[in-house]
Amino acid sequence: MRLLLGWKMPRKKVIFVALLFFPCVCMFGFFIMNYDSDLCYYCFQKTENYFSIKTDYKRNLFIKVPESKCKQNPPFLVLLVTTTHNQKEARMAIRKTWGKDQLIQGKRVATFFLLGTNAGKPVSLSEEINTYKDIIQKDFVDTYYNLTIKTLTGLDWIVHHCPQTRYIMKTDTDMFVNTLYLIELLMRKNQTSNLFTGILKPNDPPIRNIFSKWYISKREYDRDKYPPFCSGTGYVLSVDVAQRIYNISFSIPFFKLEDVYIGMCLDKLKVPLQELHSLPIFFAYKPSFSVCTYRNLVTSHEVQPQEIIMYWEALQIAQEENC
Ligand SMILES: *[C@@H]1O[C@H](CO)[C@@H](O)[C@H](O)[C@H]1NC(C)=O
Ligand SMILES: *[C@@H]1O[C@H](CO)[C@@H](O)[C@H](O)[C@H]1NC(C)=O
Ligand SMILES: *[C@@H]1O[C@H](CO)[C@@H](O)[C@H](O)[C@H]1NC(C)=O
Repeated sequence: MRLLLGWKMPRKKVIFVALLFFPCVCMFGFFIMNYDSDLCYYCFQKTENYFSIKTDYKRNLFIKVPESKCKQNPPFLVLLVTTTHNQKEARMAIRKTWGKDQLIQGKRVATFFLLGTNAGKPVSLSEEINTYKDIIQKDFVDTYYNLTIKTLTGLDWIVHHCPQTRYIMKTDTDMFVNTLYLIELLMRKNQTSNLFTGILKPNDPPIRNIFSKWYISKREYDRDKYPPFCSGTGYVLSVDVAQRIYNISFSIPFFKLEDVYIGMCLDKLKVPLQELHSLPIFFAYKPSFSVCTYRNLVTSHEVQPQEIIMYWEALQIAQEENC
């Protein structure tokens, strides 16, 4: 067998050398994946915004502030849905289904979408914004690692434009939210202050794998465990907690993982996480659909716009059905 340099090597030896090197390559890969230092920080630049961001963004002015009608007709629950410019189909599905302006057991539910600015990319939403009047927008570059700013934008809006609501849920566009069941559970729980609930993460460690979307370097966070938080796929809080988080956010340094950041605020505020039900009702994945399963859950994740519509309609049609 001929190698690169025209140097002859018997086949057996090649296999031997390859076998010897394979574990080394694996170990090197493993080492790199868990390596955590400034070297990786400069290679991957994943954490850049941690240092460049100013808390001023929290104080930034709104670009679009929809009229809330909160004074005249206070909602019981406001859904704040993080979205991006290109997700119109999902927004439309949500407006027709779980996020429509509706009364559930006499309680008003109102939905608003949170958006940043789409620097450089010409997607104009002015028609959609004027038609539906449900988009809250601020001036920050709309990227995944700016989700914390997006969430704080929602809380800023609640504090200044809709403090009359009783509860707030922060969720995402790829979610199915069973608003009917959520209202029922909130009424049953009957706890109008100091409430924070969702998928509880009491003990999550930071992810140190540089290839992960949630990678956090030791520079950004040096402890082995995050404070307790709830998964950003969907959490629910009483309005007083929203106001207190907003207030304390000015003294808590920016952290790019939105749900962990909110956990840091809760930790300072000494607001405990609570369960809304003794059984799991919030899901960070998509349980397979059946009327009975979806009637008894609050969130399902990674749901396509067509599925949102299908599931919602199936639940409406089957209202009288027993499980
Ligand atoms: C977040 O938004 C700010 C303000 O627009 C911007 O300067 C920054 O680059 C953005 N961060 C990321 C990671 O996109
Ligand atoms: C809810 O709680 C309040 C006070 O904590 C109590 O007065 C009220 O009767 C409760 N409502 C229900 C429906 O349990
Ligand atoms: C938030 O801060 C403002 C100004 O410092 C204060 O007036 C208000 O009472 C605070 N609200 C809460 C809920 O802590």
